[in-house]
Amino acid sequence: MIGVAVNFFSDSRYGICYHSNVIWWRINAPLAVQSFNKLRRKAEMSFEKNILCIGAGYVGGPTMAMIAHKCPQYKVTVVDIDPERIAQWNSDDLPIYESGLEEIVKAARGRNLFFSIEVEEGIRECEIIFVSVNTPTKTFGAGAGMAADLQYWDKTARQIRKHSESNKIIVEKSTLPVKTAQAMERILTSADNGIRFDVLSNPEFLAEGTAIKDLEDPDRVLIGSTQTPEGLKARDVLVEIYSNWIRAERIITSNIWSSELSKLVANAFLAQRISSINSISALCEKADADVEEVARAVGMDSRVGSRFLNASVGFGGSCFKKDILNLVYLCRYYDLKEVADYWEGVVKINDYQKERFILNMLNVMFNTLANKRICLFGFAFKADTGDTRESPAIFVAKRLIEEKARVVITDPKALKNAMKDLGNVDGEISYVEDPYEASAGCSAIAVMTEWAIYGDLDYKKIYLSMAKPAFIFDGRNILDHEKLFEIGFNVFPIGKPGLTHF
Ligand code: UDX
Repeated sequence: MIGVAVNFFSDSRYGICYHSNVIWWRINAPLAVQSFNKLRRKAEMSFEKNILCIGAGYVGGPTMAMIAHKCPQYKVTVVDIDPERIAQWNSDDLPIYESGLEEIVKAARGRNLFFSIEVEEGIRECEIIFVSVNTPTKTFGAGAGMAADLQYWDKTARQIRKHSESNKIIVEKSTLPVKTAQAMERILTSADNGIRFDVLSNPEFLAEGTAIKDLEDPDRVLIGSTQTPEGLKARDVLVEIYSNWIRAERIITSNIWSSELSKLVANAFLAQRISSINSISALCEKADADVEEVARAVGMDSRVGSRFLNASVGFGGSCFKKDILNLVYLCRYYDLKEVADYWEGVVKINDYQKERFILNMLNVMFNTLANKRICLFGFAFKADTGDTRESPAIFVAKRLIEEKARVVITDPKALKNAMKDLGNVDGEISYVEDPYEASAGCSAIAVMTEWAIYGDLDYKKIYLSMAKPAFIFDGRNILDHEKLFEIGFNVFPIGKPGLTHF
């Protein structure tokens, strides 16, 4: 509000109309600006801590919103070089959708949560800086396709060094390969200007769709620091922030390398479970077993646990593949060939599963997909999101086009992203919101995303509108296969024998 008022008063356009109130404001505006600035400075000084986050993306935005929500005594500023993204964070239409996010952003925004493009000012003013910039997989040079591209991190570290006028605690939020904190500390301290930088690692474990719940009630918060007295002191500052709403036993601390490595390993273990059950799904299809029955029996062993054992067409998302490849690169760097190969196997099985899905389609649809219309039910990498990063649907759509099929894509939230992902693909692809319209005239439906709506459709109506013989390939095992078979479909689930009418 103060910012808006200041912008208003300092804009000369408002000085040209001579309404009496305006004349009063013209005379008094400089005074008003001064007192607003005083108020602003006073308000800033009255906050217990000034926290900055560089990077207003998927992790930075929600995490800072949660800190501002739980800690009204701290001022939290999120900065980004992308003015459009910041404008969205300051609007009614936030750049990302997460259940519960809008409520907490709207309540804290302008009170103790601010979104801005003033990166340098933010660096000067804040004593704790979270860095949450993107670290995609490198596409060039050494480690291309595997190692993390750290150019944004490096640039940010240099920017922090350049604009800092007082000691800072730097918190790594982006997922980074082990020993990045050390590299950052070296860049930061190389200015030799008497300013102290303590770098902490505080990896993010939130999953899309449950980000706010994961932030509010996390399984654990992990903070890594150097074990020097200064490092431990910095660590305690971050522990204090999280202690505002998280129980002490859930906040764990470690050395900085363990913390950085834990993030890669947590994602590798989760992805490994999916690849493990997916590898077994291939065997079940051959051996007339049912992968869901196997997963249930195995998951009931409390040492194994039941979650993340759903066989599927393959895992996607922005983290799993990227983090495993990082881990593999790290192992190769340390000459641990066997360990690298072991973890690379998780990604290989995922690729195999996606290819197997296509080869099965080809095989059961009489060894040709050319000119057949095939409808993809879902394009997002998982349900309840419009995110399509690394979605198996991208691979499946591209492979279908290679087989000269005509692809129809439907998804309640991800059609725009699907269009971007497949923008360069040369072939017949259409994007249709309504699943009934999308599947009409198709020879096959392939379920790519476990959207609940696909379980509730009128499949009798769909069957009647399709070319015959009609096929369903359930890449998520969410449909009632027996019922579909009774309607007349040839049904191919994952990890169970197909149900066919021939
Ligand atoms: C993941 C981790 O869960 C999170 O802790 C980390 O910080 C970031 O990466 P996210 O990518 O949002 O989060 O999605 P997640 O729910 O883990 O699913 C990843 C992929 O695995 C999706 O494509 C999902 O459909 C697939 N999956 C998941 C399966 O195929 N089977 C399962 O049993 C579970």
